[in-house]
Amino acid sequence: MVFSTDGEVPYKEGQSIGVVADGQDKNGKPHKLRLYSIASSALGDFGDAKTVSLCVKRLVYTNDAGEVVKGVCSNFLCDLKPGADVNITGPVGKEMLMPKDPNATIIMLATGTGIAPFRSFLWKMFFEKYEDYKFNGLAWLFLGVPTSSSLLYPEEFGKMKAKAPDNFRVDYAISREETNVAGEKMYIQTRMAEYKDELWELLKKDNTYVYMCGLKGMEKGIDEIMIPLASKEGSTG
Ligand code: A2P
Repeated sequence: MVFSTDGEVPYKEGQSIGVVADGQDKNGKPHKLRLYSIASSALGDFGDAKTVSLCVKRLVYTNDAGEVVKGVCSNFLCDLKPGADVNITGPVGKEMLMPKDPNATIIMLATGTGIAPFRSFLWKMFFEKYEDYKFNGLAWLFLGVPTSSSLLYPEEFGKMKAKAPDNFRVDYAISREETNVAGEKMYIQTRMAEYKDELWELLKKDNTYVYMCGLKGMEKGIDEIMIPLASKEGSTG
């Protein structure tokens, strides 16, 4: 979703925006703000620094009591009509800012809409021109989604790969359609395990940065493939 800001909400790649859904909660209070990682570069999807884009998935699930629960803010956003006004706050966030070093190795691990901050980084790296920034390192994206039809922005990543084959790698993990040789579900960490020695060599360099965004549950699986690699070389951290 692309929101126009008239340039009044300047942000950096890796920051988030707060969204306040219209209406009230069940206690009659205004809804609390929800944070969304920004999916566009600082220049925005039209290159004029006047928009901010989000990658939003409608959250609907059945709870333990069998009731259908709809996420307040994602449903508010997905039900908006083009041109509607939306209350946004921010930008906020320092943890996910992109490294300044144009020669860095940047490993990006995303599940689902966790792709947002990485789309922002990758647009800056491969689709835009700056006098003081020309990416010449390695950007390696791992993206996990349930089905091939739910892959996010594959055309954009294809264009980036065609433009900068030596500087961009992208590997998908399509959990409900693919397995590894052992027949296990293809999660992002399962895909990473195929490259574990190569990843470990990259991780040992001073200018390698690893970013993770998406499901909370993914941390554990990623630790499980990294810890044996690190301990093989005597590191415990
Ligand atoms: P699955 O749903 O098949 O279990 P989305 O947010 O669009 O649902 O995508 C999230 C992706 O992350 C899905 O492919 C989902 O697989 C996968 N996933 C679920 N749990 C984990 C986990 N613990 N570690 C890594 N990936 C996970």
